[in-house]
Amino acid sequence: MRPIQTLSALVIFVTLFLIFFYSSLHLETTDSLSAGPEDLLKDPSLQVHDRDVKTQPSKQERFTFPPPVVLNVSVSDGLREAIPQNEAYWNRLLYSALRNRDKGENPFGHDSDWSLCRQTNQDHLQTNVHDFTSYPVSIQDFLQGMNCRSPPVLFNQPNKCISAAGKEDNQTFLLFAIKSSPRNFERRQAVRETWGQEVVYQDGLKVHTVFLLGSSPLEDPDLSSLLSFEARHFGDLLQWDFHESFFNLTLKMNMFLQWTVQYCPKASFVFSGDDDVFVNTPTLLRYLQSLEPLKASRLYAGQVISKASPLRAPTNKYYIPLSFYDGPYPAYAGGGGFIISGALLQRLYSASHVIPFFPIDDVYVGMCFKALGISPEPNTDFRTFDIMKQDRENLCVNKKLILIHRRSPQQMKKLWSGIHNPSLTC
Ligand SMILES: *[C@@H]1O[C@H](CO)[C@@H](O)[C@H](O)[C@H]1NC(C)=O
Ligand SMILES: *[C@@H]1O[C@H](CO)[C@@H](O)[C@H](O)[C@H]1NC(C)=O
Repeated sequence: MRPIQTLSALVIFVTLFLIFFYSSLHLETTDSLSAGPEDLLKDPSLQVHDRDVKTQPSKQERFTFPPPVVLNVSVSDGLREAIPQNEAYWNRLLYSALRNRDKGENPFGHDSDWSLCRQTNQDHLQTNVHDFTSYPVSIQDFLQGMNCRSPPVLFNQPNKCISAAGKEDNQTFLLFAIKSSPRNFERRQAVRETWGQEVVYQDGLKVHTVFLLGSSPLEDPDLSSLLSFEARHFGDLLQWDFHESFFNLTLKMNMFLQWTVQYCPKASFVFSGDDDVFVNTPTLLRYLQSLEPLKASRLYAGQVISKASPLRAPTNKYYIPLSFYDGPYPAYAGGGGFIISGALLQRLYSASHVIPFFPIDDVYVGMCFKALGISPEPNTDFRTFDIMKQDRENLCVNKKLILIHRRSPQQMKKLWSGIHNPSLTC
């Protein structure tokens, strides 16, 4: 009898151990899934001022998602027709990326390790761009970093689109992704108090908001402890460790696409825009709800700029040297604010792995959509170039529009309460 008793004791012990082990595992996952917005992924080295943050990283490391998959999207003939094959550097890069991809190789044929990508590109540029040294410094800088696509994450919001109650991530109707910069706190706050409020609108439409930030230049005052507070308090900051600059906006767009594919893939629509635009959220939601299902699943809408070409005056903010890019721009939606169907995010992100980075972010998005064979849908209620001066104070004009660029934080608050005033009759 003895061996049997020992055996049963052993079986009971092992069973109890397994039950305990699995229940603790289960606790761990539910714990991380239901963690609030304050559960941020942060670079511990940055949080030197912040005591309670230091205790968090071990928990965050456990909370990892698989990296987004890059699909092998087919590139439309429209892209090849729109962008000529010629001697300009970017044009050559594009066609070589397309050839590499057709051969089943990595389109850019290099390793994009964040710490190495700038140096490896240096020699390549000197030999391939004959007048490289005559380019403005900012464009030289862009070219050196144009293969760098994996900046370290400073603030993440992995639970943004996961509802605490149902653990369903398919409840976000509209995600606002707003390009901001560390110092623009007042603008972010105005957006939070007005059009970017995270509320449930009529018909149960849920809106979520994230602000996309790079890092301040080293010469600037250090705002990191304040940002860290802001990220925890509002749970809406995404920040990556690359310098905030005009020519890094394409990188910012790419990081945002990667984030959304990973953490908010079920959002029905995504808005990409600036922190100084005014958005009439109820009007925008009505427009999105009114779309035919087919259009709703293939939407790229905004103020469309068609038949544009690079500006060639070296002093212009949008200057593009002829030896860098030669050709017109495909039609694109103005970067002040446009809408994309959530259903297109994965393909758009994948297209950005074939199309080399272009210095102007909204033109770049237009190129990626062209590659997918999708044309931008013009909507005259998106006014990225503002409206006529005499209409700016007219609430009835404002109430009908979807987006207006640009408005100060004070004007945003005034407009928002004005168009929501029940006694307003138009
Ligand atoms: C989300 O998905 C769940 C499970 O697939 C489904 O029951 C629910 O109705 C969906 N919710 C919405 C808002 O689509
Ligand atoms: C973009 O960010 C990187 C990383 O911080 C920086 O080295 C580079 O100078 C920035 N590029 C531009 C064009 O500002």
